[in-house]
Amino acid sequence: MNSVREGVYDRLVTHIQNGTTDQAEAVLNVPVSNFTSPEHLQRELEVFRHQPLIVAMSSELAEPGSFVTRDILGAPLLIVRQKSGKVAVFRNMCRHRGGKVELDEKGRKPFFVCSYHGWSFDGDGALRGVPFEDHLGEVDRGCKSLFRIQSEERHGMVWADFSGQEGRSVADFLGAADGKLAAYDVDQTTIYMEKHIDAAMNWKLVVDGAIDVLHPQFLHPRGVGKLIETNASLWEDFGRHGRSWSAYKKLSDKVRAGTHTPEDGRYCSGNFVIFPNVCMIPTPTHYEFWNVWPDLKDPGKCHVHIRFLIDPELLDEKRAGQIDKSWAILQQAATEEDFPMEETIQANANAYPVGDFLYGRSEAPCQHLHRQLARAMAEVAA
Ligand code: FES
Ligand SMILES: [Fe+2]
Repeated sequence: MNSVREGVYDRLVTHIQNGTTDQAEAVLNVPVSNFTSPEHLQRELEVFRHQPLIVAMSSELAEPGSFVTRDILGAPLLIVRQKSGKVAVFRNMCRHRGGKVELDEKGRKPFFVCSYHGWSFDGDGALRGVPFEDHLGEVDRGCKSLFRIQSEERHGMVWADFSGQEGRSVADFLGAADGKLAAYDVDQTTIYMEKHIDAAMNWKLVVDGAIDVLHPQFLHPRGVGKLIETNASLWEDFGRHGRSWSAYKKLSDKVRAGTHTPEDGRYCSGNFVIFPNVCMIPTPTHYEFWNVWPDLKDPGKCHVHIRFLIDPELLDEKRAGQIDKSWAILQQAATEEDFPMEETIQANANAYPVGDFLYGRSEAPCQHLHRQLARAMAEVAA
C-alpha cells in the first residue's frame, strides 16, 4: 500500500498547512433533470452497456465449477470458473425454450441442468445432454451452446462487456487507472460481508455521496466527520476514472501541532472511483467496495451493493471485531445520514425538476463523475 500512497503525504500536508484543497478548474452546473428524467436515464444505461462493468469478484469463483448467478442491468447472467481456470460469463438462458439454466445463486457444479426439461450444459457452455432428443428433430449441438458475453478477469474482478464489440480490453478501458488498481492486490481478497440495499434515489446521488469530500463534518459530526478532515483533499484524474484522498484527523492534528513525520502518511484515505458506478475505499482492515446500479425504469431509484473485502490471511478475532465495528459505522453513516439526505435531494428534484445543482471547485471527485458521464453519453450517442 505504500506505493499506492506515493506523493500523497506531502501534498496533503501542504493542503492542511495552508487550509487549501485540490480544486477543479471551474464550478459545474448539473441539470436537476439529470436525476429525474427517464430519457436521461435510458441514455446513461446506454453508457453502461457500452463499456466493461464489474459483475463479480474473482473470489466468488474460487475453484473450477464455482458459479454465481445474478441479474445485471436486467440481464440474467451465469458466471462460471471453467476447468481451464478462466472465468466465462453466459446468458443464464437455456437454449431449449429460454428458462434460467441455473436457479441457485451460487455454488459449485460440474455442469448445469435446466430444471424445465433437463437440458444440460458444461461449464464452458457447451450443450451436453438433451432428454428425449429423438422428439426434437436434429439438435445441432454446436449451435446450441449457452450464449457467451464478452468478459475478462482482471485485478480480482470479473468484468462483462455487453457492447458486443470484440477486441476491447479492460486494461484499455482502465487506461491510467490500470496500473494503479493493480497495486491494491484485490485478487488476494475474499468477501467478508456484503449487503444489497434498494435505495429511493438516483444512482448518481449515491456515488456522489460516497466520493463527496465536502460533507463529513456536517453530515457525520459524530462518526466519519470526527475521523476524516473535511475539504482538504487530493484528486488524481485517471481519465474516466480517478482517486480522491482525504486526511484522517490523526494526520491533520499532527500537522497542525507540527509533529508529523512521513510515517504518518498512512493516516489518509484514498477512494478509488471506477467509472461510472464503483468506488473502493481502503481502510486499515479491509476494502469497502461499492457497486451502485441504476434502476432500469425509475430515475429515482437505485440498487446498492456494498462488499467488505479482506485479506483472509490477516483475519483473526481482533480484526474481525474491528471490521464489524467499521460495518456498524458505515451502516449508521450510510443508512441514517447519507441515504436520508440523498432521499431529500431526490424528493426535491422530483418536485422541482428545473434549474441546476452546483458542484463547487473543491468538489472535484463529484464533478469528475458528471463531466465524464456527459462525455461518455455524447460518445455513445455519436
Ligand atoms: S427450457 Fe431448459 S430444458 Fe426446456
Ligand atoms: Fe457521507
